Amino acid sequence: MINKGIILAGGMGTRLSPLTKVINKQLLPLYDKPLIFYPLSVLMLSGIKNILIITNPNENNIYKKILGDGTRFGIKISYKEQAKPNGLPEAFILGKKFIGKDGVALILGDNFFYGEGFTKRLKNGLKKNKGATIFAYAVNNASNYGVVKVNNNNKVLNIVEKPKKYISNLAITGLYYFNNKVIRFAEKLKPSKRKELEITDLIKKYKRDKQLKVELIGRGGSWLDAGTIKDLFDASTFVSTVEKRQGFKIACLEEIALRNKWITKNLIIKSIKFYGNCDYSNYLKKLI
Ligand code: TTP
Repeated sequence: MINKGIILAGGMGTRLSPLTKVINKQLLPLYDKPLIFYPLSVLMLSGIKNILIITNPNENNIYKKILGDGTRFGIKISYKEQAKPNGLPEAFILGKKFIGKDGVALILGDNFFYGEGFTKRLKNGLKKNKGATIFAYAVNNASNYGVVKVNNNNKVLNIVEKPKKYISNLAITGLYYFNNKVIRFAEKLKPSKRKELEITDLIKKYKRDKQLKVELIGRGGSWLDAGTIKDLFDASTFVSTVEKRQGFKIACLEEIALRNKWITKNLIIKSIKFYGNCDYSNYLKKLI
């Protein structure tokens, strides 16, 4: 059972410059909340309460300003700095002490998922994970991502990072579950040609050991990342459209915590004071 999660919230955000010249990508607004609320909501929906946020040097104070130690959401957040973006698997090296003897979920700070039945799938995946679980999603531009090819039984046939030749339209999304072996595997990785540790190399180690599971997110689900200006804008539009139509907020952390029975109304009142007079606070008021 996995009960710990890491959010990777460092990176250069080169593709989002000039927006990211002074503000880290994960603090940019995705419609009505900072981007980091969305991946954090995914971990909280999975039932994970113990979370490590990895940031660039000297940036964790800004994250602490908005998220604190997690008390407001009934969770425990700790922080660790990454000296430079050496690749996603470094999360497990930096997070070695945090992970301890447990399994761990990793989510990229600019990714989020949305759709009917998603929470149930997340929880099931966590429970069933033996080695590694990855989540794949059909997209138009799969060659921009790590890509996985599977057979009819969802068995993994091939994994390629940003393939030059078409192998499949299934992108590997930024959510991963791993057992404790991930630390040892990550420590053994060598940097690739672009001088980064590659998550696809890590996943391939699980494939070699026949311990890799792929969960396909179907057409009813949505996976969004906010890596480019267009992606960020589209994701904002998506959230705005859904929220306006339904009257529910996506990734309202206090709402998830309340539903999970991790906090009581008193903490919501504290959050309302913290945010001040705004639309988000008005939504929180309606919850209680
Ligand atoms: P990327 O989108 O690959 O990198 P980036 O955010 O630096 O953006 P760009 O490519 O435009 O320069 O990273 C995915 C997420 O993972 C992103 O939210 C930043 C985070 N990240 C880290 O925290 N540490 C790392 O070493 C890497 C590679 C990424």
